[in-house]
Amino acid sequence: MTGLFISFEGIDGAGKSTHIETLAQAFRAQGRTVLLTREPGGTPLAEVLRTLVLNEAMDAMTEALLVFAARRDHLQQKIQPALARGEVVLCDRFTDATFAYQGGGRGFDLKVLSTLEQWVQGIDDGAKSAIRQPDLTLWFDLDPALAAERLASARVPDKFESQPVEFFSRVAKAYGQRMAEQPGRFARIEAANSREAVGQAVILAVQHKGYLP
Ligand code: TYD
Repeated sequence: MTGLFISFEGIDGAGKSTHIETLAQAFRAQGRTVLLTREPGGTPLAEVLRTLVLNEAMDAMTEALLVFAARRDHLQQKIQPALARGEVVLCDRFTDATFAYQGGGRGFDLKVLSTLEQWVQGIDDGAKSAIRQPDLTLWFDLDPALAAERLASARVPDKFESQPVEFFSRVAKAYGQRMAEQPGRFARIEAANSREAVGQAVILAVQHKGYLP
C-alpha cells in the first residue's frame, strides 16, 4: 500500500483541528494505519522549536529558519518513514503555513522561502529532483473577522493568535495564492458552515481524490 500525506491548513480559528480526528477514524475504518502529527512539531526536537516559535519574539527570517529546521527533522524522523511504511500521515499544517504566516503575514521574501522549501523538502531520485509535498492539502477558508470572533471566546492566545485581523487577512490571501499556484494539490473547504457540513466537505474532498471509497 502506498503512503498518503494530507495536510490541514487555514488561519487560526478556522476550526481545522476538530476534523483531523474524524478523518483519521475514516481511514482507520478502512484498515489503514494513521499517523496524526503537526507542525511546527511532531518530533521531540521540533516540539522544542515549536515552543520557541510560538512564544518568543523574533524576526521573520529567524521564524522561517526555525519552522524549516523543525520541518526537516519532522520529515526525516517521522513523515518519510511513515509514508515508506504505507501509512496515512495527517499533518496539522505544513509548508503552506510558512508561505502564509511568514510570507503573507510577516511579509518575508517568498523567493527565500521557496529556496528553503527546495532544500528541506527536496527529493533527489537521480533522474529528477522533486519537492516532497502533501498529496492533498485541505484549506479551511474562513473570513478573518469570523475567525477572530471564534478565537476571542477560546483559550489564551499565543503569539500568532494575538495578531490583529489585518495580519490574518494577509495570511488568508497568501493561502489563496498558494492554492492558485498548485490547484491540483488543494481542496478549499468553506469553514463558515456548520461543523457537520464542514466534516462532510472534508470527507467528500478526500473521496474526490480517490483516497476513500
Ligand atoms: P496551530 O496549528 O493553530 O495549533 P494550535 O491549534 O495548537 O494553536 O498553531 C501553530 C501556529 O504556528 C499557528 O499560529 C501558525 C503558526 N505557524 C507558522 O507561523 N509557520 C509555520 O510554518 C507553521 C507550520 C505554523
